[in-house]
Amino acid sequence: MLEQLTEDLKKAAVEADRLITQAKSVDELRQAESRLIGKKGLLGQLLTSIGKLPKEQRAAAGKEINLTKAKITEQFAVARAELEKASDQTATASAQMFDPTLPGPVVPRGSVHPVTAVQWEVEDIMARLGFVVVSGPEMETDYYNFEALNIPEMHPARDMQDTFWLDNGWLLRTHTSPCQVRAMERLGPPLRVIAPGRCFRYETEDASHATTFHQLEGLMIDRNISIANLVAVMKLILDEILHQDMKIRLRPGYFPYVEPGFELDMQCQICGGEGCPTCKKSGWIEILPCGMVHPNVLKFGRIDPHEYTGFAFGMGLTRLAMMKYGVSDIRVLNSGDLRAIIRPKRRSGAAIIEKF
Ligand code: DAH
Repeated sequence: MLEQLTEDLKKAAVEADRLITQAKSVDELRQAESRLIGKKGLLGQLLTSIGKLPKEQRAAAGKEINLTKAKITEQFAVARAELEKASDQTATASAQMFDPTLPGPVVPRGSVHPVTAVQWEVEDIMARLGFVVVSGPEMETDYYNFEALNIPEMHPARDMQDTFWLDNGWLLRTHTSPCQVRAMERLGPPLRVIAPGRCFRYETEDASHATTFHQLEGLMIDRNISIANLVAVMKLILDEILHQDMKIRLRPGYFPYVEPGFELDMQCQICGGEGCPTCKKSGWIEILPCGMVHPNVLKFGRIDPHEYTGFAFGMGLTRLAMMKYGVSDIRVLNSGDLRAIIRPKRRSGAAIIEKF
């Protein structure tokens, strides 16, 4: 029996040597050590088996096991010390190699949301045409959002825009058009302004409708402004943004603040005009509702309609971004999905000149 034990202990010593040479870290060493001499380890098992030996052999067996255990423990301690020393040396060496003059790691700089990128582009184009950027409040009064835009109380056109009403009688602006009247009041004619911003509607969300979306309002007022000016400016914006000679069409559209009013459609960029779910299979996308400013609105803005005329438009920035970047579902743009975020484009040109 004792011979068998001596044999087992020899095996344990060989196993210890093997584990020590294999271990690459102090942690690995510790694990190997407890595997070998711990209670459930080889030596632990041998110790428990002493009870099965004849009485007179037990003392000798115990002694032999403990001797091997002490040797192995010692071997592990030495190996651990060596590993610790080596890792200290590597740390010191790399600390000495640190060169403070080297550039640091590159930190990602973040990027611009597609809607913002399109907005900046339109601002730049319009700035070249002499338009300035203004900004109005997102919480609006009934007066600016409806009344002064020729939509009095009880007018059915209010139903065109499902509204988030606030407890204080104000509302979340349903469009950027209130900026038209604010601009007329504040700046007077002649006038070339654009007003980008967030708008809100109480709507059921689907692929092309969201409760929060971005518009860019445009207003030009001067003597002798005609529909020809309107169409020229609208087409220029679309051509520049989409880098091609865009196919557009003008349809009559009803908005109480313009007369005549139009829907300007452009060819769907998702399907190239073939028809797809985004353009509701028509091949066209309503992108630019517009028209000639209604005389009543000019009057609300304290401008004489006999002397001045003007055009206005309300561009769907979110929709334009979808077309430009080929995003077929508006919900992707608002989701914070990082795949919908593009690299930043340096901002140039326009700066907000007036905050209402
Ligand atoms: N305010 C309109 C909307 O949100 C868009 C619009 C239509 C703006 C015609 C205009 C315009 O300036 O002339 O649906």
